[in-house]
Amino acid sequence: MEIRDLTAFIGSEITGVTCEDLQRPEVFGAVHNALNERELIVVRGLDITPEQQIVLARKFGKPAPPHSPRYAHPRFPEILVSSNVVKGNKPLGVARVGNFWHQDGSFVKSPATYSMLHGVDVPHTSGHTMFANACDVYDRLPDEWKSTIDGRTALHTHVKRARIAQEHVGLSVAEMRAVIEAEFPLPEHPLVRRDAFTGRLYVYGAPEVLDSVNGFDANGNEAFFAQLDALIQDPERVHTHRWMPLDLLVWKTASAYHAATAVEPGRHRTVHRISIAA
Ligand SMILES: [Fe+2]
Repeated sequence: MEIRDLTAFIGSEITGVTCEDLQRPEVFGAVHNALNERELIVVRGLDITPEQQIVLARKFGKPAPPHSPRYAHPRFPEILVSSNVVKGNKPLGVARVGNFWHQDGSFVKSPATYSMLHGVDVPHTSGHTMFANACDVYDRLPDEWKSTIDGRTALHTHVKRARIAQEHVGLSVAEMRAVIEAEFPLPEHPLVRRDAFTGRLYVYGAPEVLDSVNGFDANGNEAFFAQLDALIQDPERVHTHRWMPLDLLVWKTASAYHAATAVEPGRHRTVHRISIAA
């Protein structure tokens, strides 16, 4: 097994490891440590079945049921199928998730700790996943912003990106917002948190999923979101993961910002996802 840094600021790539190797405590320990140290791990060419993915997920923690049970794997409810494949008029899984910068599950009160994706059928030339390290984003915040946000909380929301569903047809935007907020009350999280493993501070919240920072007026929110967006999306600090078949990615939901990119027309893409509570 070889572990190397993907970039200076996020990610470790792990090669030369099999599913059996990962059962050995010293091998798994090194992999888990790389994840905790580097926010994201990419295990290349891991040929595993859905059962083996669940067994591996259990080594990191407790698999959490998917947010959309509708797209759970038909035989393995722990696995969320993310796919653009349609079989006999029925989508194989949920298409187009997370095509904006976010931290997984921040719009719920207690998000899972890790996200694990297995590239079952993935193109290499599109459908990339971009990553940015939220600790690195905090480090690069100007000092004035660091002191302005110190000790503040923020409200996270699902609404900015919510799709208009059948039950929303005929409602005004305000009514739709009220319906969604009743279903998903806006959780309040500290805006700056400390990673339990590395001790580094990180920003918790992305403009696309932040409603507002408590104590900021509309101008303050707008200015902070613009500053945050510029840091998250700085091309010098974004790592673009170009998927290879059977890649297994695991990231820390809180400190790994990420965004999905579009899949080229006519190309199938299927990944199996498990959310893990540690
Ligand atoms: Fe995500």
